[in-house]
Amino acid sequence: MRCNHHVRLNCGITMPLIGFGTYSYPNDNKTTQIAVQNALELGYRHFDTAKIYGSEPALGKALNKAIYRGEIQREEIFLTSKLWGSDHHDPVSALKRTLKNLDMEYLDMYLVHWPVKLKPWVNYPVPNEDDFENLDLETTWAGMEKCLEMGLCRSIGVSNFSSSKIEWLLDFANTPPAVNQVEMHPMWRQRKLRKICGKHNIHVSAYSPLGGPGNAWGSTAVVNHPIIQSIAFKHNATPPQVALKWGLLKGSSVIVKSFNDERMEENIGSFDINLDGEDMLEIEKMEEMKIMRGEFHVNETTSPYKTIEELWDDEI
Ligand SMILES: NC(=O)c1ccc[n+]([C@@H]2O[C@H](COP(=O)([O-])OP(=O)(O)OC[C@H]3O[C@@H](n4cnc5c(N)ncnc54)[C@H](OP(=O)(O)O)[C@@H]3O)[C@@H](O)[C@H]2O)c1
Repeated sequence: MRCNHHVRLNCGITMPLIGFGTYSYPNDNKTTQIAVQNALELGYRHFDTAKIYGSEPALGKALNKAIYRGEIQREEIFLTSKLWGSDHHDPVSALKRTLKNLDMEYLDMYLVHWPVKLKPWVNYPVPNEDDFENLDLETTWAGMEKCLEMGLCRSIGVSNFSSSKIEWLLDFANTPPAVNQVEMHPMWRQRKLRKICGKHNIHVSAYSPLGGPGNAWGSTAVVNHPIIQSIAFKHNATPPQVALKWGLLKGSSVIVKSFNDERMEENIGSFDINLDGEDMLEIEKMEEMKIMRGEFHVNETTSPYKTIEELWDDEI
């Protein structure tokens, strides 16, 4: 099945190259549950959630229902969730809560959501000015490694890490991250980060691979771009399929969200289209534009990141 094309990670386990995103706002349990059920039927086997999305319970419910009915086995699913900033103090307890939300015994991947540590009570996505603490990445990562040792997850990784932060982490990590999940699409190509991660055998997973059209913070700039549209026309494909195939050809997995059956199927169809060298060169000509900038993690007083450039170590 096309959804089972996979990549082998540095820790030895395999991850399907197309992931099903579950972030939606507002987060509605019933809608998410139905979408996951349909996604399973269409063949999706890799599911992406995070404590802060609020989608863990609905995702877990839909997966468990399918497992209970014998439609799939737990081992056939790749399940990712993420450590929110307020949980850097204690990743083991946070992961246990995530597993309870999901009603699962283990995750396949646990990611540090952002290189940002927040006060323990900050259970909301946009922190207030006085909610920040200094990031002690060594302690956070030791907690992530403990999760792995305890068998609460099969692999650990990071998200929204710049090249410099990856190298900082590698200075002391006993277990290197298997994945760095970052924004990546034809208008945010992550050339430098892909090179550094490639050197260290860290897989780059692309979130918002379509640029998040329809999200409050997202953009239609990628799928509406004339270059993407003309490549789609040339191959009798759709612009989202071109954007997804570009990510796959760059060696990344793509975490794409659609709760609509037709678009879910269309997105899987990206495996079947072929982009040639000329198309890839055309895409290189597109202007770059970071859509998820993470301004909410920047302030001049309490955040360790006083500017957006500091958050991304100038990779913006
Ligand atoms: N690690 C992080 O910090 C981070 C940040 C952002 C996202 N993520 C993860 O990545 C996932 C995907 O990112 P995203 O949701 O921001 O962006 P995305 O997948 O690029 O775009 C999702 C939006 O595009 C629409 N869409 C999907 N397929 C389409 C198609 N074929 N044609 C037209 N529209 C289409 C969806 O609407 P419909 O549902 O109506 O189809 C939705 O509004 C998230 O759900 C989340 O799991 C992680």
